[in-house]
Amino acid sequence: MIFGATGDLTRRLLMPALRNLRRNRLLPDDFALVGVASRDIGDDGFRDHLRQGMEQFGGGARDDIDWFLQRSRYVSGKFESPEAYKALNGLLPAERNALFYLATPPGEFEVIARRLGKAGLLHESEGTWRRLVIEKPFGHDLPSAVALDKRLLRVAHENQIFRIDHYLGKETVQNILVLRFANGFVEPLWNRDHIDHVQITVAETVGVEGRGKSYDGTGALRDMVPNHLFQLLTLIGMEPPSHLNADALRAEKAKVLHAVRPLDPRRDVVRGQYGAGRIGDTAVAAYRQEPDVPRDSQTETYVAMKMAIDNWRWAGVPFYLRTGKALGRRRTEITVQFRQAPLTLFRDTPVERLPPNDLTLHIQPEEGVSLRFGVKIPGPTVRIDGANMKFSYSDAFEAQPSTGYETLIYDCMMGDASLFQPAETIEAGWGAIQPILDAWQQDPRIPLPVYDAGGMGPTEADELLARDHRRWRRIIR
Ligand code: BG6
Repeated sequence: MIFGATGDLTRRLLMPALRNLRRNRLLPDDFALVGVASRDIGDDGFRDHLRQGMEQFGGGARDDIDWFLQRSRYVSGKFESPEAYKALNGLLPAERNALFYLATPPGEFEVIARRLGKAGLLHESEGTWRRLVIEKPFGHDLPSAVALDKRLLRVAHENQIFRIDHYLGKETVQNILVLRFANGFVEPLWNRDHIDHVQITVAETVGVEGRGKSYDGTGALRDMVPNHLFQLLTLIGMEPPSHLNADALRAEKAKVLHAVRPLDPRRDVVRGQYGAGRIGDTAVAAYRQEPDVPRDSQTETYVAMKMAIDNWRWAGVPFYLRTGKALGRRRTEITVQFRQAPLTLFRDTPVERLPPNDLTLHIQPEEGVSLRFGVKIPGPTVRIDGANMKFSYSDAFEAQPSTGYETLIYDCMMGDASLFQPAETIEAGWGAIQPILDAWQQDPRIPLPVYDAGGMGPTEADELLARDHRRWRRIIR
């Protein structure tokens, strides 16, 4: 059952993902889809809507579309109206399993859960399951996330709640675990004895894409950091779990967030907002000129921060995180830079410095891994240059078309919560950034530099690393 079934998420991602699951024979034949939304369009109107969406996103065989249409029903109503839930109850016999997907604005999560609970729809009778999938954002700060959790737990058990972070559906994000724990050479080096620092970058070229109104109340920090960037951070930073099951994995990830040293919002964090510029050949208007954005908006579209994880593995190894909109190039990547080799051996040669060794995990749009190391430049004198060894997913494997939601929906149906967030990590994530949210709210003197659209972000972010004699990897060449 999808709440918000006529919305964008359903059309662009959920339906294509369901179709991919069906093509891989991962949906049961007695699968049924119930759409819930406020528009009064009836079963047939909903089927038309689904058909158009499926033709637009995902194409494919006709019979595949028909398979879904034959199994689709629609319930219209306001999410707070008990009538709608009566209708749902009529469609859902007690002995059926059900997944309730809340693809709605976040303000609706609580009321839908409460109404589902009241209507008895979350009750799991012997041998059946009822699960609630909740999209991000889960709260807008620590107190609101705690309050939402509390209310959800009044109507559902923690093991019925699946909080989505779509980054965990990405193949290359899941591969971080395999790279770290399935390769004998990695783990012995993965600590403060060998690693100098880590950089996590999520750079986007898109601006706010017509979402000005909601984005302006959110900003880059809330939108990206406690969820997507912290997922990457915890996968890089966690200890090896004892099992690959949800409890073991999620417990190790939560420990990383609990070990984050409290951030100093004035020293460790830089924010920025994009001004006008060009991305490729396209002129981009300043953020404050976007529709529905106040002309004096103080919302950040970029944030960079230096974090410390105070545990035995990472003490003294800074983690630098950055994310921004309207930057020069789209790329999500993690670079682990190893410590320099001592220069002694080359003291009497022309070599003045050794190229750093770094391992970069390319998450998107390129998917792969690259390793940089020093090589001798051919010739009679000793000169050294950096060489890059690259593994690319697309060269090595024929990837199936995927939205990233396939794994998440499938795992949810199978009851595997490994790729979903428990209340503890959500709250630990918000807890880590709460001092920044508070400082920005209380102190308008904290700078909000403007950066050019199409560039690499504010120069203040470069200073954050220059202070430590380090540099960001370039976003654009
Ligand atoms: C969403 C954010 O969660 O993630 C968006 O709300 C952002 O602002 C998007 O653009 C990025 O996702 P992806 O998969 O394109 O990296």
